[in-house]
Amino acid sequence: MRGVGILGAVSSPPSLEVSGLAFAYPDGHQALFGVDLRIERGERVALLGPNGAGKTTLVLHLNGVHRAGAGEVRVGGLEVTREHVQEIRRRVGIVFQDPDDQLFMPTVGDDVAFGPANFGVTEPELSQRVSDALDAVGMADLADRSPMHLSGGQRRRVALATVLACDPEILVLDEPSTHLDPVARRELAEVLLGLDRTMLMVTHDLPYALQLCPRSVVIDGGVVVADAPTWDILADPDLLAAHRLELPFGFAL
Ligand SMILES: Nc1ncnc2c1ncn2[C@@H]1O[C@H](COP(=O)(O)OP(=O)(O)O)[C@@H](O)[C@H]1O
Ligand SMILES: [Mg+2]
Repeated sequence: MRGVGILGAVSSPPSLEVSGLAFAYPDGHQALFGVDLRIERGERVALLGPNGAGKTTLVLHLNGVHRAGAGEVRVGGLEVTREHVQEIRRRVGIVFQDPDDQLFMPTVGDDVAFGPANFGVTEPELSQRVSDALDAVGMADLADRSPMHLSGGQRRRVALATVLACDPEILVLDEPSTHLDPVARRELAEVLLGLDRTMLMVTHDLPYALQLCPRSVVIDGGVVVADAPTWDILADPDLLAAHRLELPFGFAL
């Protein structure tokens, strides 16, 4: 809901508001046990936790793939429900771990145009969206290339552009640094730091979380076990050990 501040200014709702979210898979396995998470517009937050913690299950609630068993999810104030699923999918831009899941058109430009065209954006705005999104990821020169002929780092950046072109309220990145060489990893970090977007980044790469996200949320066993400045979380060896999080060799705070 939009609130009116004391000076009469309209304040934006948080980009993401998850309250009391619980969920069990159809086989009865309960994966989330009452998750609360509020992310204000413009925040960049890392989502950390061991395998099986519930990270993917949580992410799949943000765009309506899974329906809350209890509790609710709101994106920019709009509740994730069946009626809102089209607008919710536009508002939640998920960059999947494997860019090959996201790129399927003959050219990079076609891939980036696909999402906004699907959401009803027409020319001349469509071309503008495509060029702005490719600019934002440093790929403006490659619009006519086939995504198949790009490097892994370039494909990851095109996948990011396909999502940015839809102008999402929140960008969700699933393990963005996996399988990237050090240069591509750093280039992607520079691109992400240059974006003015709310961001939720699922990662096992703790230095990446520190570089990109001032705040981190740790989830384990389907509940939030820590929500603090990333620096404080990484500087707490007991917390890290308790949740199977590990800094790389030689990395010390
Ligand atoms: N389709 C499914 N059916 C039943 N249980 C599942 C399914 N997918 C995941 N789970 C279980 O839910 C829990 C959370 O999984 P997940 O959200 O994938 O964790 P993470 O992404 O943090 O590794 C795990 O115990 C996992 O085994
Ligand atoms: Mg997962």
